[in-house]
Amino acid sequence: MKKLILLFTALSCWACTTPTDNQGDMSIIPCPNKMEVKSNNFLTLGNEVSISIDTPFPTSGGVMQYFSDRLKEHHLTLVQKTSGKEGIRLVVDSRLPDEAYELIIDTQGITLRANDSGAGFFYAIQSLLQMLPATNSDNVSLPYLEIKDAPRFSYRGAMIDVARNFQSKETVLKFIDLMSVYKMNHLHLHLTDDQGWRIEIKKYPQLTDIGSSRPRTMTGHSDYYFPRRFDTIPQKGFYTQEDIKEIVRYAQERFITVIPEIEMPGHSSAALAAYPQYSCGLGKNYVVRDYMDIFDEVYCPHEGTIQFLQDILSEVMELFPSQYIHIGGDECPKKAWKACSKCQALIKKEGLKDEHELQSWFIHRIEKFVNSKGRNIIGWDEILEGGLAPNATVMSWRGEQGGIAAAQMKHKVIMTPGDYCYIDHYQEDPEFAPLAIGSYLPLDSVYAYNPLPGILNQEERKYIIGTQANLWGEYVQTPDYLEYMAFPRLLAMAEVQWTETKNKNIEDFLKRLKKNFIWLDNKGVNACRNFYEVSFQGRWNKEKSGQEITLKTLCPGGEIRYALNDSTEDHFQTYTSPLLLNSETEIFAAFYLNNKRMGNITRKRFTVNKATGCDYICTPKAGWEHIHKGYGLTDGLRGYTKDMRQWSSFYEDTLKIDLSLHKRETVRQVKLASLWRPWNKIWPARQVQVWISQDGLSYHPVAQIRPTYDFTRTEATRFPISLSFSKTTAKFIRLIISGGGNCHKGYYKEGNPSELALDEIEIY
Ligand code: ACM
Ligand code: ZN
Repeated sequence: MKKLILLFTALSCWACTTPTDNQGDMSIIPCPNKMEVKSNNFLTLGNEVSISIDTPFPTSGGVMQYFSDRLKEHHLTLVQKTSGKEGIRLVVDSRLPDEAYELIIDTQGITLRANDSGAGFFYAIQSLLQMLPATNSDNVSLPYLEIKDAPRFSYRGAMIDVARNFQSKETVLKFIDLMSVYKMNHLHLHLTDDQGWRIEIKKYPQLTDIGSSRPRTMTGHSDYYFPRRFDTIPQKGFYTQEDIKEIVRYAQERFITVIPEIEMPGHSSAALAAYPQYSCGLGKNYVVRDYMDIFDEVYCPHEGTIQFLQDILSEVMELFPSQYIHIGGDECPKKAWKACSKCQALIKKEGLKDEHELQSWFIHRIEKFVNSKGRNIIGWDEILEGGLAPNATVMSWRGEQGGIAAAQMKHKVIMTPGDYCYIDHYQEDPEFAPLAIGSYLPLDSVYAYNPLPGILNQEERKYIIGTQANLWGEYVQTPDYLEYMAFPRLLAMAEVQWTETKNKNIEDFLKRLKKNFIWLDNKGVNACRNFYEVSFQGRWNKEKSGQEITLKTLCPGGEIRYALNDSTEDHFQTYTSPLLLNSETEIFAAFYLNNKRMGNITRKRFTVNKATGCDYICTPKAGWEHIHKGYGLTDGLRGYTKDMRQWSSFYEDTLKIDLSLHKRETVRQVKLASLWRPWNKIWPARQVQVWISQDGLSYHPVAQIRPTYDFTRTEATRFPISLSFSKTTAKFIRLIISGGGNCHKGYYKEGNPSELALDEIEIY
């Protein structure tokens, strides 16, 4: 076997992310905060790596075992020596803070320095391992360098929701393993919810006997079918206390703390299915829920319930040594409490103002108990409402406002705003992506996150202890899909958590991700491949009078190829500059590295007509526009039923849209579509009128329609509306639209005003 040898060479200067084969490739994620290449010298690693530890530290045995196992993946053997200069030396340096490390490669070999907590050595090893080639590690050359690294945030988390859909112990262990490679240090396990209770509690066996299974599950998105549709597949599973111990131990070996979340007082249907005596009663049937929603059936905060929850938390705290215990606190409807005589009596007895103060009183009680055991609670930001419990840490998810308020009140905060941290959102074009909860959070948006809001001063910022990616499980039914949603976005989050803003750079991250992607592939991680796929961006080009489409991919280098209205790969041509479309076109494209197609062929249809790219004014303004604000109705993209992003929505019953054509045009037809999604209170337009004008001042009507719709359909529907009229010239077009009126009888929110969702205005 070859030994680690030191080799002086004069190879070309090492560049951050552009290695040659088996020459040290510093594709370290998260990017170290200080890294300096010392010279043009390289150290060559043989396939036997010797290591010595100057002073053993409490976790050195485990760290060595981990290192040895990981090196085996690279066909390298770790040989432990008691002393000696050769090879890798671990030097305990008590001056370094926890988690910080130094990694030096020089004539002495490789020196790792950290304090004796072990975490720093573990992270140094991760950095070193990431320098090895993702595949063949024979004769690796590593440049002489010095890394002095420490994390930006002490809390670097990921949450997985194993309650909505159970994930096996093995899936959790693999997830922990992957987190640790990217120096994340907290796994938040969302263990209980309306759809399942996933942890064995010895004192209350029915929690898992009853609460961990359901006979079927809603199919499709919860807002899509009316009535809801269900599969016939039983969904069940929970972790025994032995499983939990194994998970906690496995995580500890990787310097990850597992934080359990036991949801209260809302999201408690599964527990109440098992123990309905802890509900408000009210004649409801308490069941493990088989569809995704927010339910009115919540814990009734009487003494019996508090004792029940304290008993549960006692067992939970025995199993999880974590300083933090997450008690949920989000999305607790107050309807049951308003109607419950016990709750109302409690409000009176405790002198509380309302149900919000009752929630706050309840959280205070639970916090007191958790504190009495020497632990602290984390709660979602709703725990701010009605008064924050004295020692609580706030997990800010409804934007950053809750976190900002809590930090100003000198409470610790973990930032998890949906717009940057919710990795259950779509990461690729929702029109073609596998089912997700909605919204859109691509890789680069995760990367862009800065968890320290500018509004906070230096002192207040100290309370922001970190940030976390949240993977909710409503639509995550398989381990493969869990990985698909988590990766590669988790790597972007890891860099947000570890790397100082001044050291972050998206282009550099994407270069480093290229190697890490290969490593993830080798590890069998089912990462989303849109890193290697083409996305399409359109904008109206005034000068060229056409819809200009830019094709992009996240992966640097390589080549994009495409064809128009043709999906045959053989017909694809190289993309060099934006495309100009003058009529309706579907574009097909793919990304190639070394002539090999890396991802799927992606596609997008753009409708180009006389309205495309035209300015318009809506009176009243749109209630919401998720994308292309101000031009979503003429952006060349038709709304589709699966997702709401493309649609513009209006709350008022009468709407006027004044559209200014690019030039005086001959017109004879106006088309648009109106969405029907009863679960979202979205009903289609009752009437549409078209008026035209030459000067934008005087208009006259040319067409009117009162569409009829097929309401016997049972799924969200895009209803096309078309108005034809005699050929005429116009410069301005006005649409006067009546909304859908009230939600119809027998449907969700019947009798309440509906919303109108429109897209895309087309003129021919
Ligand atoms: C949450 O997303 N309901 C915390
Ligand atoms: Zn009650």
